[in-house]
Amino acid sequence: MYRYRRDMEIGLLGATGPAGRALAARLASVGCDVTIGSRSKYRALEVRDEIVSAWPTHDLMIKAGENSAAAQREIVIIATPWDAAAGTASSVADHLGGKVVICMSNALQKVGDEFLPLVPPRGSVSASVQAEVPSAFVAAGMHHVPANELANIEQDVDSDVLVCSDHSSATLVAMDLVNLIPGLRALDAGHLSNAMAIEAFTAVLLQLNVRYKTRAAVKFTGIDLAD
Ligand SMILES: NC(=O)c1ccc[n+]([C@@H]2O[C@H](COP(=O)([O-])OP(=O)(O)OC[C@H]3O[C@@H](n4cnc5c(N)ncnc54)[C@H](OP(=O)(O)O)[C@@H]3O)[C@@H](O)[C@H]2O)c1
Repeated sequence: MYRYRRDMEIGLLGATGPAGRALAARLASVGCDVTIGSRSKYRALEVRDEIVSAWPTHDLMIKAGENSAAAQREIVIIATPWDAAAGTASSVADHLGGKVVICMSNALQKVGDEFLPLVPPRGSVSASVQAEVPSAFVAAGMHHVPANELANIEQDVDSDVLVCSDHSSATLVAMDLVNLIPGLRALDAGHLSNAMAIEAFTAVLLQLNVRYKTRAAVKFTGIDLAD
């Protein structure tokens, strides 16, 4: 079965935003070799330099380039806004065939203080990416982990992470990556059709954050992985 190996390089598309840059830093902090991708190579380089200089005592393996460079890595993570995810995947589709592609984008709209879940035509952003690049093994994951907490690589993030996919290899690789990060526990949430619920739930989580002035994370009771 296809599993994550330490020598696998990871590319992140749209990784100049809070979510992508936080995940890049966090994965690098646990020894992964990551490439920050952007529509602009220079923006990616700038973000790489910012991360490396923010953590001078850590030996972070971070490269930077255009999204096409990040897409050439063995595992690819999409961290763009929801309405750019499928188009971005499509723009680098030549590199994605046969690879695990993890999509963390949530379809949301903020109206005033309210977060509204949106339903993309195929039900979820991840399903749109899968439809755009059918030869990729798309998994949905990392939707609920707050970027601010993820970015602080010296502090664990205490959260469960739901992963779903129509490809067991993608589920396993995405879960392996999540489980590399101290404090996170990956849970197999079934087929990609469930990405709709996972993505939409992010609106609830963000609403809780507004209401209770916090950054809530998701934890499920009653699941003992030793079973
Ligand atoms: N922020 C969080 O706490 C968090 C947590 C979990 C999941 N997420 C999800 O992760 C995704 C990214 O979140 P974010 O806050 O980092 O988003 P963001 O800052 O709005 O966007 C991330 C990056 O995507 C690229 N991008 C923006 N518009 C684009 C377009 N039209 N086409 C192609 N690329 C575009 C930009 O990079 P370049 O201009 O450099 O190309 C941008 O820096 C969202 O879908 C969000 O729901 C966020």
